[in-house]
Amino acid sequence: MIVKNLILRNFRNYDYVKVEFDPKLNVIIGENAAGKTNLVEAIYFLSLARSFRTSEISDLIKNKRQYSQIEATVEQDTITKDIVALMTSSSKKFICNEKPIRKISDLSKLINVIVFEPKDTLMFSDSPLVRRNYLDINLSKKSPIYLENLMMFEKLLRERNAILKKDIIDKIQLNVVTEQMIEVEESICKYRSAYINEINNILSRLITKLKGEKETAELVYLPFMKLDGEFKSSCARAYEHNVESDIKHKMTQIGIHREDMKLILNGKDISQQGSQGENRIAVIAIKLAPYFLIEDKAKKPIVILDDVMSELDDDHKKRLLMFIKNELEQVFITTTKTTIKDASIYEVSEHIITRRNAKW
Ligand SMILES: Nc1ncnc2c1ncn2[C@@H]1O[C@H](COP(=O)(O)OP(=O)(O)OP(=O)(O)O)[C@@H](O)[C@H]1O
Ligand SMILES: [Mg+2]
Repeated sequence: MIVKNLILRNFRNYDYVKVEFDPKLNVIIGENAAGKTNLVEAIYFLSLARSFRTSEISDLIKNKRQYSQIEATVEQDTITKDIVALMTSSSKKFICNEKPIRKISDLSKLINVIVFEPKDTLMFSDSPLVRRNYLDINLSKKSPIYLENLMMFEKLLRERNAILKKDIIDKIQLNVVTEQMIEVEESICKYRSAYINEINNILSRLITKLKGEKETAELVYLPFMKLDGEFKSSCARAYEHNVESDIKHKMTQIGIHREDMKLILNGKDISQQGSQGENRIAVIAIKLAPYFLIEDKAKKPIVILDDVMSELDDDHKKRLLMFIKNELEQVFITTTKTTIKDASIYEVSEHIITRRNAKW
């Protein structure tokens, strides 16, 4: 799929801009604070109904004006659709071909985006939440059942925690909710484990291509409970064993909301021993892996690489560019300076976007 054009109204530092994009490589250049990330953030927002930088919609609206609007024409399998996001400080609405979109999952089907942002370099030294988010976002896009189970789990977790916060604990109710939780947790664990296996099938190849040397990489899933035939009974025992502590802390301390994964690169845990550049390349590969797990070419996501080149030496920059040109469809790269050829260059300055040239 591709974004053919984008119109922003009152979005971040933009009053009004209209841009036509290249179906392949789009390079957004400009000084710091020019509005490069703002531009790609708008594309991301259309895909997931949220930003990768803020959870406050009001941050997206220019200088506290009344509303902000993003409009895009997207193309998939030669069919084009017009998508509009309309935000006020207290609401967000999405429209496709003049009809309202009610489910966020329907948005991702229209415009699926993968983003790499500078702070992703810290993916393996950051909190486990970041790594779970990676799994949850990608798995939710891939499987509606996963998304349903995840939402169900979150609802049950809220219920269980609410029971634990009461002065008098209703043990029967607690057991019922715990049992329901274990049921969805088994499914979630199986999905997470299978997805990590799928990523591992391609990860070493991706990292080897990006680094130019033979590398072995493995994501290691750390489930909260061993995934075997005894999963349910082991969970029941663990929750029972932990119940007094849960009551004391007034929250559920074990479950899929506490899981994690780590990355072993050439036999070493990257969070302990990886250099910044190594982390960056490994995370780029992990972020891009879902792209290669989607077989239908028309459904391949749009790739946003925000400030991806910084911290990479010239050799790695060249390899990454070659990889992007050879293996990906529509890509957006933001950068402060560029020597990139065979791309459409968009210069952002003073809130205006100028297409400097159509392909060199
Ligand atoms: N709601 C808003 N209203 C007005 N201006 C905003 C709003 N949100 C952000 N900005 C402005 O947008 C600018 C930042 O834009 P952006 O993050 O896209 O810069 P950038 O080109 O990616 O810079 P860098 O190279 O440093 O990453 C800042 O000057 C910021 O003040
Ligand atoms: Mg930026």
